[in-house]
Amino acid sequence: MSPAIGIDDLAFATGSFRIDLAVLAARLGADPAKYYRGLGQSEMSVVAEDEDVVTLGAAAAQQILARGGADGVRTLMFATETGIDQSKSAGVYVHRLLGLGPNVRVVELKQACYSATAAMQFAAALVARDPSEKVLVIASDIARYELDTAAEPTQGAGAVAFTVTANPALLELEPANGVYTEDVMDFWRPNHSTTAIVDGKTSITAYLDAVAGAFDDYLSRGGAPFDAIDWFCYHQPFTKMAVKAHRHLADRAGSGADPAAVAARIEPTTGYNRRIGNSYTASVYLALLALLDGAEDLAGKRVAIASYGSGAVAEFLTGTVPANYRTALRAAENERRLADRVPVDDATYLALQDAARRRDPSNYETARQTPAPFRFGGVRDDQRIYEPTV
Ligand code: CAA
Repeated sequence: MSPAIGIDDLAFATGSFRIDLAVLAARLGADPAKYYRGLGQSEMSVVAEDEDVVTLGAAAAQQILARGGADGVRTLMFATETGIDQSKSAGVYVHRLLGLGPNVRVVELKQACYSATAAMQFAAALVARDPSEKVLVIASDIARYELDTAAEPTQGAGAVAFTVTANPALLELEPANGVYTEDVMDFWRPNHSTTAIVDGKTSITAYLDAVAGAFDDYLSRGGAPFDAIDWFCYHQPFTKMAVKAHRHLADRAGSGADPAAVAARIEPTTGYNRRIGNSYTASVYLALLALLDGAEDLAGKRVAIASYGSGAVAEFLTGTVPANYRTALRAAENERRLADRVPVDDATYLALQDAARRRDPSNYETARQTPAPFRFGGVRDDQRIYEPTV
């Protein structure tokens, strides 16, 4: 019998700073309850001047290699929509920072917030071909919108890294999966822009339609019925979106859950995203990690991943959680990582946002701010500089 394949280890990193959404609400003239309850967000991570998707991704992956080593890693896939170069993969910088050997293929994937799930499926196929392989997937993003817009409180920054292996410790993927693609202009970022363009209301409808389409495809390919799935991890641009998506699928399945029951079902998946904000590609895996790190006993339970990337592609898949999964977690370390972020006021946050708009993108130095293991030193003659912090 061929071995189970899935996620063996899962870690995250985020920006060094955080801003309480009440601070934003004061500037934007909004009731803080609109963000806390209406969007389901309490704060968001803000990156230091010398942090970017490479440093966040490397910090997440370093935790996994520190525990499990690099033996068997022959592929590193870097999923992001915060591209730092039109040609070179951000993963190649990470490969050097982590000290990986030369016999590793490195590639970057893009389809808005969805591509980490494509990476996971490609990784599973590689492991099916050679079960001794361990594929390292990194999903890393910094969500930026124009200031003083409705989208500003739905920014954030974060990275996850996970390994896909045979006989995984955290999630064994089930064979059925459903996919859905439709050309929609709900959210995109032209090459010339550092901030995304979004039609907020269209993006919510497009998300719901795509996840429903992916779920229907999952069912048609032998997936488990809605009521046979124990937990649902949705992409969380803001955590209330997961509640909306779950209500949508429950209604379509005739499952008839009342609003409070739906919210309670989603709550254990929201703990990290509620504090980090939107981390695009990483977000649905942060939902999974929050669920795994939480109080629920997941042994033997079926967990769904509902991945959505604007533009739009969605995928719905399920996996089961092995009996001893808790031994492979690092919940206390994850909580410390969030608690250690330094709170900033609005003026500091605005200065950090301003610093991200590089006046001369070919040459600049960044201030030393991050306490993370790796830093982005700036750009010299169009070459990006990454270095260990100490
Ligand atoms: N107390 C409690 N709740 C309040 C409130 C108050 N005082 N005032 C408003 N609310 C509630 C509203 O009722 C609403 O809840 P429901 O949707 O459940 O009815 C919620 O707060 C938000 O209010 P609005 O709809 O008025 O918010 P808005 O128009 O200002 O903006 C947004 C919301 C469209 C999501 C905007 O933040 C945005 O454009 N964000 C970026 C786009 C995005 O995240 N889209 C998600 C789907 S696309 C995707 O998932 C890909 C991706 O990562 C980007």
